[in-house]
Amino acid sequence: MAYEVRGVVARGKGAPVSIETIVVPDPGPGEAVVDVQACGVCHTDLHYREGGINDDFPFLLGHEAAGIVAAVGEGVTNVVVGDYVILNWRAVCGQCRACLKGEPQYCFDTRNAAQRMTLADGTELSPALGIGAFAEKTLVHSGQCTKVDPAAPPAAAGLLGCGVMAGVGAAINTGGVQRGETVAVFGCGGVGDAAIAGAKLAGAGTIIAVDISDRKLEWARQLGATHTVNSSETDAVAAIKALTGGFGVDVAIDAVGRPEVFEQAFYARDLAGRVVMVGVPTPDMEITLPAIEIFGRGGSIKSSWYGDCLPSRDFPMLIDLYLQGRFDLDAFVSETIGLADVEEAFEKMHRGEVLRSVVVLS
Ligand SMILES: NC(=O)c1ccc[n+]([C@@H]2O[C@H](COP(=O)([O-])OP(=O)(O)OC[C@H]3O[C@@H](n4cnc5c(N)ncnc54)[C@H](O)[C@@H]3O)[C@@H](O)[C@H]2O)c1
Ligand SMILES: [Zn+2]
Ligand SMILES: [Zn+2]
Repeated sequence: MAYEVRGVVARGKGAPVSIETIVVPDPGPGEAVVDVQACGVCHTDLHYREGGINDDFPFLLGHEAAGIVAAVGEGVTNVVVGDYVILNWRAVCGQCRACLKGEPQYCFDTRNAAQRMTLADGTELSPALGIGAFAEKTLVHSGQCTKVDPAAPPAAAGLLGCGVMAGVGAAINTGGVQRGETVAVFGCGGVGDAAIAGAKLAGAGTIIAVDISDRKLEWARQLGATHTVNSSETDAVAAIKALTGGFGVDVAIDAVGRPEVFEQAFYARDLAGRVVMVGVPTPDMEITLPAIEIFGRGGSIKSSWYGDCLPSRDFPMLIDLYLQGRFDLDAFVSETIGLADVEEAFEKMHRGEVLRSVVVLS
């Protein structure tokens, strides 16, 4: 028996989202249905709504979620009904070139549910990042369910499902921040502040937060930034060099996803430093850099998909650090809202009033 539940759907490019009845099929082989308890509003949901990811409307939005497994399909062994899980968008296949090389964090063939959720009239929905969790229930591949300690409340835990993991991982996994290193993070939203928290966890000495909003910079300080730069008033590259003995940082992280910000990150880095792009550019954006600067500065330029995380390794570890009081996930939750408030949450995100609005379902 399929389930009929409420979900937040983006029907067309730029159009406000609406609450619709969605049909969630019984889980087939390898699939699971999850009762969503909480789901954060990530900037990527807004990218979907604005047609910045692809044109496969209608989208069932939401992808930063925690919940309880409600039903599992044939052959599912990693979770059972009642398990408390964080949903991930990297259910690794174990068989692709990356997995076989022992680098499953780059898996090229990640798994999603084979069946589609639909609107009541049968129109197939495209779930955001293969999840679609602004809904009372959602259907995923069982590998998208990562069991964690139920002592962590869902509004905080769910954030590891995307933005916070992407930011922490951009610093620790992709950027490889080491004890005592200098780090600059451009863009202090949920992702950027998580990169700051990740750099702090890794033992960075100097952590410079860059944003165009003073309110965001204030929050960045609370999450571990040692210095802040408002790049709408100050030349960010010059300010970062001044804070690092004239050299630039070891690791520069672009958590905005705009060419001019990437360029600042590129030039704010020391010789042999690492630049990490974790903000997502839109398909029309282009970056032009002098080739000699790319060569001459050495180091590396890396993009960071999902913080190069391996959910089975990284989610339980970060939940443990959270429960020990060493990693403040609660600081990312600016407000809890209902399903009907997602459109307003996009506006608040746009105005820079929140780090994360989190939809909480009863
Ligand atoms: N790579 C991944 O796996 C991954 C995962 C999740 C999100 N993302 C992407 O990361 C980016 C950030 O997401 P978020 O949820 O933190 O968004 P957000 O809207 O909460 O934060 C963006 C921040 O950037 C700041 N900003 C905007 N323009 C700026 C500029 N020119 N210079 C400096 N700061 C500027 C804003 O003031 C805001 O604080 C988005 O592009 C999102 O799609 C990537
Ligand atoms: Zn794989
Ligand atoms: Zn996201």
